[in-house]
Amino acid sequence: MKGTVVVACSQMRPEFGATEQNLNRISRITEETKADLIVFPELATSGYEFRDRSELGELALDLIDGAEMDRLKSLARDADTHIVAGLPERFGDKLFNSAVLVEPSGRTTVYRKLQLFDREKQLFDPGEEEPPVVDTSVGRLGLMICFDWIFPEVARLLALGGAQVICHPSNLVLDYCQRAMFARSVENGVFTVTCNRVGSESRLDRTMTFTGASQILSNRGQTLAQASTDREEIITARINPTDADDKMITATNHVLDDRRQEFYIRLTV
Ligand code: ACM
Repeated sequence: MKGTVVVACSQMRPEFGATEQNLNRISRITEETKADLIVFPELATSGYEFRDRSELGELALDLIDGAEMDRLKSLARDADTHIVAGLPERFGDKLFNSAVLVEPSGRTTVYRKLQLFDREKQLFDPGEEEPPVVDTSVGRLGLMICFDWIFPEVARLLALGGAQVICHPSNLVLDYCQRAMFARSVENGVFTVTCNRVGSESRLDRTMTFTGASQILSNRGQTLAQASTDREEIITARINPTDADDKMITATNHVLDDRRQEFYIRLTV
């Protein structure tokens, strides 16, 4: 594994429904950004405010064999980087709010959002598998999506699975998430890369405004980079993912081993 790696977060404003155009932008940004890992927002090829499930179905992608995945694989290979992006997924008759990790080798990993936010429950099927941790040449990467942040169990599962860096594609609308991610970083001793989007969508009888402020936090909760609340921009940080293997908070406190699990049994019933 590389020692120091450059992680990037591409805060952007996807154009609703313009899959090709959004993919072109993802390609250009990936080619131009010198990073070992680049994270894009949730639903980066489609935008957020689907009128209904049928519109979502039209914009959802085949993340197993689809042409868009072939394109992301070529991109990761040619730019020699790891790409994480949130994408709408069609799988049989199911529709998921997913994130993919695409490695330069061509290996891909899909995570399907477990915790659907508000109206997403009418559109998407909830994920059916644990969030993955993938051992890559730039560290052990964990995947979660946006609203998963409010369930500390998700980040904890990733940390227990060995994640050093949590990649967190987002379309955040509640402005306290970014602060809450400080807790996800320190309580698990992991780096977190929250890649949010900016802009608004008014396709229904409401306006959704996304809060930007994408951030890269260290395993000790330090802000290594933070974006504005309203502009498209790329932020980067140079990190050593193995720093996240040190789980000692004091000389005698290990953030995972000190858990008193015998008293937490009700958490799982
Ligand atoms: C969200 O989960 N997109 C808020």
